[in-house]
Formats: sequence, structure tokens, C-alpha cells
Amino acid sequence: MLKEKVENSINRQIQAEVYSSYLYMAMTAYATHEGLTGTANWLKVQAQEELTHALRFYQYVNQRGGRVILLPIEQPPSDFHSMPAIFEAVLKHEEYVTSLINGLVDIAQEEKDHATVQMLQWFVTEQVEEEANANDILNRLKLIGKDGSTLFMLDKDLGTRVFTPPPDMVI
Ligand code: FEO
Repeated sequence: MLKEKVENSINRQIQAEVYSSYLYMAMTAYATHEGLTGTANWLKVQAQEELTHALRFYQYVNQRGGRVILLPIEQPPSDFHSMPAIFEAVLKHEEYVTSLINGLVDIAQEEKDHATVQMLQWFVTEQVEEEANANDILNRLKLIGKDGSTLFMLDKDLGTRVFTPPPDMVI
């Protein structure tokens, strides 16, 4: 059985993960409108992954005999200004999510909920990857500068990202 404090915190994290998906869908819409087809694909995959993060928490609450309470999702921004600004926003958002996951680990440790601490390790590792992915694209954008043809190649490369549903999850 989940302790109330842990359950409430995970329900808030489900909200944060669904908001992440909503935010990346908003970025996808912006990139699509701007003709950044590859960037839009990368962001759409990111949005899909965020939903699987929400579902991973959702499944866990149910597994532990807790109760999922879905909280409201706020409206994301709609204007992201440029391709570099999109990925600056991605990195900033992922750093924020990392701080939320770390906060969850702190709560689970305080409550001596070892199963939740262990479950959260997957997310700790995932956040390292999420930040590294955004940093990698930002570094490539810095190298490219304003060279349109190289920017075009990077956008094309981002178009190759594919969503792979996690095998241990029913979506
Ligand atoms: Fe689910 Fe990108 O954090």
C-alpha cells in the first residue's frame, strides 16, 4: 500500500508528465507550422514518450493498491520563436522534470518506501538521457550557427527519430 504522501506526489508527477507531452505537442504544432518537418517529428516522438512516462507512474500506483487521481493540465505556450529556442526550452523543461524526479526520490526515501525509490531509478536514468539529448542538439545548433543548408541537414536528421513503445507497457 502506498503512503498518502507518496501517492499524492506520484499523482502530481502524472500531471507533470502529461503536461510534458502537451508541451511537446505544442512545440510539434509550432515546428510543423514553421516547416521544420524533422524537428516536428523529433518533438512528436518526445510527446509520445512523455505519455509513456505518465502511464508508467499510473501503472505503478495501481500495482501498489493506490488510487490515481488525474489533475488539471494547463495550457502550454504556442510560440517558440526559432529552432534553437525550441531546444533551449526542451532543455530547461527537462532540467525542471529532473528536479521533480529528485524531489520524488527524496519523499520516497523520507517515507522509507524502498519499492518507490527503486521504481524511480528508471526515471533518474531517463532524465540523464533526456537532458543529454537536448544538450546534444543544442551543441550541434551552436556549431551550425546561421548556415541554412546545415540547419536543413540537422532538421532532416531529427526526422529519423522513431517512437518505440516500451515492451512492458500496455498503451
Ligand atoms: Fe518524462 Fe522528459 O520527462
